[in-house]
This record gives sequence, C-alpha cells and structure tokens, in this order.
Amino acid sequence: MVSGGGTNLQALLDSLHDSPIARVARVITNRPNAGALDRARRAAVPTTVLKDPTDANELLAALRDAQLVVLAGYLKLVPLGVVGRFRWRMINIHPALLPDFGGPGMYGHRVHEAVLASGAKESGATVHFVDEVFDHGKIIAQERVPVLEGDTPERLAARVLEAEHRLLPRAVLELARNM
Ligand code: GRF
Repeated sequence: MVSGGGTNLQALLDSLHDSPIARVARVITNRPNAGALDRARRAAVPTTVLKDPTDANELLAALRDAQLVVLAGYLKLVPLGVVGRFRWRMINIHPALLPDFGGPGMYGHRVHEAVLASGAKESGATVHFVDEVFDHGKIIAQERVPVLEGDTPERLAARVLEAEHRLLPRAVLELARNM
C-alpha cells in the first residue's frame, strides 16, 4: 500500500524479482496520481486506486487473499476492521527510530526536522506491525544511521531512505519465510 513515489515499493520489486519465497501481488493506493503506480505497471503488477480509503469493505476486497500487507509510504489510517483481519500480517515502514518521532502528522520532512531539532546523534528506519494507532505496533526490525554535522532534513532523509531500502525487503523476506 502506497501514497507516494514508491521507492520502497521499487526496493521490494527489485529484491523479490525472482524470489521463490514472496512476490508483490498487488499495489493499492489512495492517490490516482501516485508515482508508485508507474513502478507497479512497469513491473506488470496489478493496481487498485481506492475510492474511499476509510471504507473497510473496499480495502478488504482489494486485499483479496493477501498473506502479508506492506505499508510503504501509505499516509492514511487503515480502517479498524482491516487492521483486525490482518493482525500480525500487516507491517509499516517509518523513517525514524520508533517509538520516537512517530504518530499522526509525523511523516516526510517533518520527521527529519524533528530529529535534527532534538539533537539526536542517530536516526534510522523502523519496520513494525500495524495496529490501531499510527506508528505504534510491535517493532520488527530497525536500521540505524548517523546524524552528521551540518545535516539538513533533506540530507538526513536521503540517508534514512537508503537504510529503508535495505531494511524493508529484509524484513518482508524474514516474515514470508516464517509464514
Ligand atoms: C518513506 O520514507 C517511508 O518510511 C515513509 O514514507 C516514505 C515513502 O517513500 N512512510 P517512498 O514512496 O517509498 O519513496
């Protein structure tokens, strides 16, 4: 599930390209102009644009028989009915070291601005299970990166995104192996 450009989706597509363990079966978005849709189409992966992202039935229909749901830059709260149906089978990637720098409104450059403003010496990426609260579910894996002298939110975001592109495929494969 995506809302933006889809570089994490691309990292998954590339790493699962010829994997016998897992494959990206469908890309679902709340934004008809999400750049991630072009990446899905180039990889011949079916796509769904949600009419109403708050509608649990529409999302459950789109998810069909998914075994694992991956939120990669999906900016909407997942309806409770769907969270319940995919308990321990729905994960999210967040561009900071949760439980810090997460929650409603904490996405994009705001996260990195907050990290820099806090004076933290390191940041990173977190993959966690999705529950009823934004960025709150049980942490599955994290990758840490240094915050460097003179870092801007953009530079820090780029360094964290590289870590995300390593961490997310690793976490997905690990979970898929145990399913
Ligand atoms: C990533 O930084 C992810 O952690 C966050 O949203 C961003 C999505 O980037 N939740 P992309 O669309 O995968 O490039």
